[in-house]
Amino acid sequence: MSLTIGPYRFPNRLALAPMAGVTDRPFRQLCRQLGAGMTVSEMISSRPELRATRKTRLRLDHAGEPGPIMVQIAGGIPRMMADAARANVDEGAEIIDINMGCPAKKVCKVDAGSALLRDTRLVESILRAVVDAVDVPVTLKIRTGWSRAARNALEVARIAEDCGIQALTIHGRTREDRFKGVAEYETIRAVKSAISIPVIANGDIDSAKKAKMVMDFTAADAIMVGRIAQQRPWIFNQIEHYLATGILVDEPSDDSKKSWLIGHLRNLYAFYGEYQGVRIARKHINWQLGSFPNYNNLKPRLMAAETSDLQLQIIQAYFADRHPLRYDRAS
Ligand SMILES: Cc1cc2nc3c(=O)[nH]c(=O)nc-3n(C[C@H](O)[C@H](O)[C@H](O)COP(=O)(O)O)c2cc1C
Repeated sequence: MSLTIGPYRFPNRLALAPMAGVTDRPFRQLCRQLGAGMTVSEMISSRPELRATRKTRLRLDHAGEPGPIMVQIAGGIPRMMADAARANVDEGAEIIDINMGCPAKKVCKVDAGSALLRDTRLVESILRAVVDAVDVPVTLKIRTGWSRAARNALEVARIAEDCGIQALTIHGRTREDRFKGVAEYETIRAVKSAISIPVIANGDIDSAKKAKMVMDFTAADAIMVGRIAQQRPWIFNQIEHYLATGILVDEPSDDSKKSWLIGHLRNLYAFYGEYQGVRIARKHINWQLGSFPNYNNLKPRLMAAETSDLQLQIIQAYFADRHPLRYDRAS
């Protein structure tokens, strides 16, 4: 089974969550390669003065990505959101996603994010303005509400459907929860049974079994995976296999993990250029290798490496050391 939004049919029911500072083009490409069927750009502010910055330009770069190109925008002023949606469609966005799910202070203060959930009339104005502004499908990402005392996802979902939103992602926490505690899926299930547009369930999905549990429990059309993909981008393949067969696949080999990481790093260097690429690569190396044995011994050298060649050399040598026999034979 697959997920359909407007005219677009996704290859499966697995989405990579938009994560500012993480889900740049190289990371999205890595996750697509490893089984994510849907990816969304890092959030782009609706404020026009930010549109010309290098950061925003890079966020808008989708060269070589499989479609549909899904761009997330954030903001609290309907007219500005409509303009931003139009501008992004002009730049090639094929689906516009509206962020009302981000609890970050910076985002809530300047660009609204999940703070909007408190004001359902404003939510409605924003959704209508954006849907009216563009001919492409518009989707929405929310939390379950502003706070546990004001869990209004159901109301927001009905407004969204009524405004012409074509899919709704729900993270099973409130804005007040931030990332604390555990995500709950009852609200997502209640929303799914109350509306007829596709619902994507999100929050704390960190294994193939959990993915199936959330899908079965909520009856969601798709699930969205965020933080765990930073460490285990191959989780999408694992989930897809388990959903299709009911069988858990083995952990990928070290060789596979090494070649995915190296491919990802090369893509980062090419995308950001040598200087910035090496720096951005560091956090991805930490995430992807963080649970490897003896990584802490390697980490200081890796973090101090100032060139892409050196970063790659240290990683190659580390993996070679983990396979001394194969290394001996090859050398
Ligand atoms: C570093 C980071 C950045 C995020 N940035 C965004 C964002 O730009 N837009 C958005 O809608 N959600 C953002 N989120 C929320 C995620 O999309 C997702 O809803 C959340 O992490 C819960 O999913 P998970 O438990 O699978 O990580 C961000 C989360 C993290 C950890």
